[in-house]
Amino acid sequence: MADDAGAAAEAVTARFAAPIEDALARHLPERSDLSPKLVEALRYAALGGGKRLRPAITCATCASLGGSVETAADPAAAIEFVHAYSLVHDDLPAMDDDDLRRGRPTCHIAFDEATAVLVGDGLQTLAFEVLAAAPGVPETTRLRMVRLLAEAAGWRGMVGGQACDMDATGAAPLSLTQLQRMHAAKTGRLFRVAVQFGALCALPDIDDRRFRHLTTFGERLGVAFQIVDDVLDVTQPSERLGKPAGSDAALGKNTYPALVGLNRARSLAHDTLSEALRLLEGLGLRHGPLDALARATVERVR
Ligand code: IPE
Ligand code: IPE
Ligand code: MG
Ligand code: MG
Ligand code: MG
Repeated sequence: MADDAGAAAEAVTARFAAPIEDALARHLPERSDLSPKLVEALRYAALGGGKRLRPAITCATCASLGGSVETAADPAAAIEFVHAYSLVHDDLPAMDDDDLRRGRPTCHIAFDEATAVLVGDGLQTLAFEVLAAAPGVPETTRLRMVRLLAEAAGWRGMVGGQACDMDATGAAPLSLTQLQRMHAAKTGRLFRVAVQFGALCALPDIDDRRFRHLTTFGERLGVAFQIVDDVLDVTQPSERLGKPAGSDAALGKNTYPALVGLNRARSLAHDTLSEALRLLEGLGLRHGPLDALARATVERVR
């Protein structure tokens, strides 16, 4: 990461790290008479590692709009639970079949496949449980957020994008438009809802125009993030990524570097970031924590 951008982004993530980790830990079960193994695996998958970028974006958006981080923490944790679930399932043999995640054995390796499937299921439902009861958010807003997260995570969003990814793996290459649509769904939608949650926590009655622009900002950021994820899979070693380098090429994945080459992929990531930053500018939110996080999304090495 470029030094300035890196330092600014680290300051932002450090500012929100404690409330985010606290919310995640507070909502994860500690014991169960039904299955101690499941509880251990839930905690394994959701704690201990991860950049926590999506929850940081929720907190940074909320803070930028004058809201409190305490209000944003539980909705932010809900999004991280959905994200953690998506990683556990993404790594399964039936999907990307990866054995390293966040520098440790993937959930199905550390436990077993059945447990990994159930961990994903359990984290996803936990997310909605936490969101539905989020303190400090009006009930009608919580209902709106439940719907937004369901749409973002479901068949039109992350799950739809993952299905598109699987359908296209090892098949004829997608067009650039199809690839961009897939990235917007599988990754952009969770980034988008992360921004939306921050906005709604700060301003439950936010006007439609600002909400729309923030929504597009979040989606652009997510697409830029996934392009960079594709690039890093080619350019960085596993030790730095904490996940297996070269996994995309080995599987025949549709990625930006595969379709347009590394240089063009990098420049498309920067173009997409610029679009996002212009939206922030229009919202009067340039030079704040969101700006730093947005830059770090692209100028990162892991
Ligand atoms: C990995 O996301 C999955 C993608 C959408 C590319 P992150 O790179 O945010 O993973 P963690 O949470 O930091 O492990
Ligand atoms: C996964 O994309 C996106 C998800 C919704 C989990 P990738 O398959 O590229 O994510 P990594 O590289 O394994 O983290
Ligand atoms: Mg995948
Ligand atoms: Mg993967
Ligand atoms: Mg990847």
